[in-house]
Amino acid sequence: MNEIAELVIARVVPRGDGFAHWRGRAVFVPNTAPGDHVRVRIEGVRRGVLRARVLAFLARGKVGAEPFCPHAASCGGCALQWIARKYWPFLKASWVEAAFRPFLQAGARWRGVAIPTGPRRRVVWHGNGRHLGFFGRGSHRLVVPEPCPVVEPRLSAFRAAAEARGWAQARSVQAVALQDGVYLVGDAKGLAPVQGASCWAGRPLRALAHARMLAVALPTPHGEIRVEVPPGAFVQATRRGLATMVKTILRWCAGATRVGDLYCGFGALSLPLAAAGAEVVGADADQAAVAAGNKTARRLGLHARYFAMDLAKAPDLQAFAGMDVLIVDPPRAGARGALRMLGRLVPQRLVLVHCDMAAAAQDARVVASCGYRLRELVALDLFPGAGHVEALSLWVLE
Ligand SMILES: C[S@@+](CC[C@H](N)C(=O)[O-])C[C@H]1O[C@@H](n2cnc3c(N)ncnc32)[C@H](O)[C@@H]1O
Repeated sequence: MNEIAELVIARVVPRGDGFAHWRGRAVFVPNTAPGDHVRVRIEGVRRGVLRARVLAFLARGKVGAEPFCPHAASCGGCALQWIARKYWPFLKASWVEAAFRPFLQAGARWRGVAIPTGPRRRVVWHGNGRHLGFFGRGSHRLVVPEPCPVVEPRLSAFRAAAEARGWAQARSVQAVALQDGVYLVGDAKGLAPVQGASCWAGRPLRALAHARMLAVALPTPHGEIRVEVPPGAFVQATRRGLATMVKTILRWCAGATRVGDLYCGFGALSLPLAAAGAEVVGADADQAAVAAGNKTARRLGLHARYFAMDLAKAPDLQAFAGMDVLIVDPPRAGARGALRMLGRLVPQRLVLVHCDMAAAAQDARVVASCGYRLRELVALDLFPGAGHVEALSLWVLE
């Protein structure tokens, strides 16, 4: 390999690489924009596709831009900084549309723009003994963007404070900025508390001095509810993104009296429905998250019960049969495990939430083959600057 070539970038694909053709073969070229004319070095093959590195921009395409972060080329976080910010909503929407295209018949609502939802409030830093930072693209080399332009500014301040307190000894630190405080969760023992943060460390997690449970405020038809978030649990990546998801799902579930929530976490998507009067049942593998969901439900007097179960192991889902709505919000790999049982659960409506468009396309095929028709599709940009997008889809049993 190691050849020099001149290419025109045809498009930018999910995960953020530019895509071009060279001698009849596909080539991925990171750090480019559609329409860019580039000189590249073809460096090798990964997973059957050629990879190339830009040596020079011979001409920029119409949507090209200069990166706004000096670390963009080395950091693994932002693949889209070579594209002007105003095009991100259209580019990300095109990824969602491609995943759902076979099912977007006439009558399905789709606005074709990924709604921007503000800075990220959840990051994972890695430690190298001296510094906390992000892994570089495709490597374990540490990059320390200071401050990082796509995360909530509070988090950059806590990164420096945690580093000063020795948290770079941890292999990884999850930092989450919630309405009532910041969680720092490190995977090492003996870490010192960081002033102003709710700090947890070790495995199993232990609270460091003054650590407390934090919460998110979620919209309901009757005002906000305060929902407990355990340290280390999954939290949707932006504050406005989660609020928009909840409002969309409340609208889609209007009139539902029985709702199932698979991959429920701490109940972020279904506790608001319980507050609206529905009876909710949920399941997730994260025991702490499930316990927090049940605790919030008890405190608010809601009809919601969450169960700890591994949905990859085809568990007994009898409690989820015959729902008005089934919400399915799987991890990146998709909901293959849970959807295997769809033929026996037969909910009237299905709400799918996906952060990976290959998994979304695969799950959409399963759902359509079980007799569901796509009614509405929404794209949300929960990952500013990154080559990811969130898709919410509403399906109705025909
Ligand atoms: C994308 S998150 C969604 C969480 C929740 N719906 C929310 O909005 O906060 C995916 C969830 O799937 C859970 N999960 C991952 N693998 C699982 C499995 N095999 N069985 C059950 N839950 C699993 C994770 O614990 C996580 O809470």
